Amino acid sequence: AWNYRYKFFVKESPYTRLCKTKKILTVNGQFPGPTLYAHKGDTIIVDVHNKAKQNITLHWHGVKQQRYPWSDGPAYVTQCPIKPGHKFSQKVIFSAEEGTLWWHAHSTWSRATVHGAIIIYPKTGTSYPFPKPHAEVPIILGEWWKKDVRKVYEGLLATGGEPNVSDAFTINGQPGLLYPCSKRETYKLKVVYGKTYLLRLVNAAMNEVLFFSIAKHNLTVVGADGSYTKQLTNNYIVISPGQTLDCLFHANQKPDHYYMAARAYSSGVNVSFDNTTTTAILHYSDCYATSSSPSFPYLPYYNDTTSAFNFTGRLRSLANEDHPISVPLYLTKRLISTISVNSFPCYPNGTCQGPNGTRLSASMNNISFVNPQRLDVLQAYYYHVHGVYGKRFPSFPPFVFNFTADYLPLNLQTPIHGTEVKFLKYNSMVEMILQGTNLVAGIDHPMHLHGYSFYVVGWGFGNFDKHKDTLNFNLVDPPFLNTVMVPRNGWTAIRFKANNPGVWFMHCHFERHLTWGMDTVFIVKDGKGPGASMLPPPPDMPPC
Ligand code: C2O
Ligand code: CU
Repeated sequence: AWNYRYKFFVKESPYTRLCKTKKILTVNGQFPGPTLYAHKGDTIIVDVHNKAKQNITLHWHGVKQQRYPWSDGPAYVTQCPIKPGHKFSQKVIFSAEEGTLWWHAHSTWSRATVHGAIIIYPKTGTSYPFPKPHAEVPIILGEWWKKDVRKVYEGLLATGGEPNVSDAFTINGQPGLLYPCSKRETYKLKVVYGKTYLLRLVNAAMNEVLFFSIAKHNLTVVGADGSYTKQLTNNYIVISPGQTLDCLFHANQKPDHYYMAARAYSSGVNVSFDNTTTTAILHYSDCYATSSSPSFPYLPYYNDTTSAFNFTGRLRSLANEDHPISVPLYLTKRLISTISVNSFPCYPNGTCQGPNGTRLSASMNNISFVNPQRLDVLQAYYYHVHGVYGKRFPSFPPFVFNFTADYLPLNLQTPIHGTEVKFLKYNSMVEMILQGTNLVAGIDHPMHLHGYSFYVVGWGFGNFDKHKDTLNFNLVDPPFLNTVMVPRNGWTAIRFKANNPGVWFMHCHFERHLTWGMDTVFIVKDGKGPGASMLPPPPDMPPC
């Protein structure tokens, strides 16, 4: 029978990795968490029971939740957290999404272990725009700390510098044989020679973009972020935190063992990162004589920006008759936002001038987002409660300058801190330029928008040039994503039609940048007529 109702018990369970056992936050004791299944257009219900000792919220990443932000999940943006011992029944409302998405916790750093895949099949009677694979396998890439993740988060808040980097990456929860005490549990994928497989890849890592590949096997991307793409075949893929990729591969090599592997792509200068490599094994079922040392796959070097953007820059929407696209052509709202990491001056005694004595923060248009504490933005908006948020998120950066120059004016080091949102009229045709800056030397930013997918119509290195770059926009088959990696010291142009009324978070999907304030909130106002306004809240919204 088809399951439309799931029970999620958020609770602590002991897990052993890297020779050490610790309690981690899980759903139903599973890590990675359970997979949700749906067909395009379905609505499912997840009863979330908080059996843990800490507050929690859950988010359905990439699910549009048409007119219903109440179940979207980001803490203090669309709801107050579910307190220990409480329950919240969340509706997950699918519309045009088809392919792979995922769900994760959306409060403090709990998503490190609280996450799982969402698989959305075509409507009954329709099929994939590619031959049906022999089998489908979720591949969830994650990040593991030996320490309690809460401690890592608290340390980040306390020191105000870069957080501890993780101790391992994982494939379906397992680090693989390059780490201590991990060999026996390495994730194994069994395949049959001659068959085709669909990998549903999720990057659930907290702070790293990842390269992933399988030795001697090409991957053919057929979908990204719950939307079909033109087939793109390559010997490696790049996947940023938050992103999902559907990839086909043919088990067409000599029956044997092969490694698949993932490691970081990190473009930051002097930014420490986890430089370890996670592996799993591809195992042909009918191989008797296996090589003693399976071949290792090619992975680009950690700072290989050319390889990273050669891949992501070639993603295209399928854009055919069965899967048409509708890129906004006549814009009614143009926005430009800088995205920066900011570094505050420090005193010789070690305390710095940042918020609560910290050294680093992050911002969009020089505003570092502060989560409200008493009430979430959505309820404040819906019930007209004043004083929770301001409406001053600017449409353009407050300064005009060469954002990617070596030296930037000092006033940009010190953004304003506040809960500032951007209002959008219903059905506005929005273009947003996300412009990276060279503050703290710059880094790529995987920017994510809730409630929408957007068309990535252009990107480039350096400063966005309205006159030159607009001419090269792809309005024919741009990829339709919910998370896009904006290049270091570069820009990305996205477009969407604001046809989903509600309160929608936008933020960098690097968890440390989200914590530092590289976030904003769009409030899309109600339109006129039936079907153009937000639905009312459910009776069991968690109290604040
Ligand atoms: Cu997957 Cu607000 O994010
Ligand atoms: Cu970022």
